[in-house]
Amino acid sequence: MKTLVVYYSFTGNTRKVAEELAGRLGADLTELIEERPRKGLSGAIRAIFESLRHRASEITPVTAPLRKYDLIILAAPLWAGHIASPMRDFAERYREELSQVSFVITHGGSSVKKAAKELEEFCGQHPLEVMDIQEVQIKKNKVGRPISAYLAALRRDFADNDNTAHAA
Ligand SMILES: Cc1cc2nc3c(=O)[nH]c(=O)nc-3n(C[C@H](O)[C@H](O)[C@H](O)COP(=O)(O)O)c2cc1C
Repeated sequence: MKTLVVYYSFTGNTRKVAEELAGRLGADLTELIEERPRKGLSGAIRAIFESLRHRASEITPVTAPLRKYDLIILAAPLWAGHIASPMRDFAERYREELSQVSFVITHGGSSVKKAAKELEEFCGQHPLEVMDIQEVQIKKNKVGRPISAYLAALRRDFADNDNTAHAA
């Protein structure tokens, strides 16, 4: 399957996971860049404000040919209980170009259920899988196992889809 990993990362955790995923899948990788650069404490305060106000943060146009991918993995951090605002912009803006999606949400320990549901609404479709990874696992380089489990689940999903298609 032709896979693209699209990620947003403010402090580097999601980038690590996205790079590891892309490397293990042999997938392409695209980082979301914000039109208005985000730095330091003011960037974090703005992040919380945007999350609580349900605002998207505008990203620069994505040049990857999204329609060409069988699967697009969206990876982003949790901000104040919501999906990071730049990922919201991506999902809302490009929803018509996304074939199948799967999510990765990094966080500090809170539940990602609500954020995953929101992202599903922004994309307009159910994700194949949702993986949440806690910051402490990333910092300690303990992402190998959860990533293996996630990739195995995705492969099963694709095999099931294939079987259903052949049976039809
Ligand atoms: C502005 C801001 C808000 C955050 N809000 C939450 C939160 O509500 N719950 C949580 O578990 N972690 C929260 N975190 C922690 C991040 O989700 C976590 O560190 C994540 O891995 C950061 O990803 P990144 O390094 O790719 O930006 C927050 C971090 C920031 C900067």
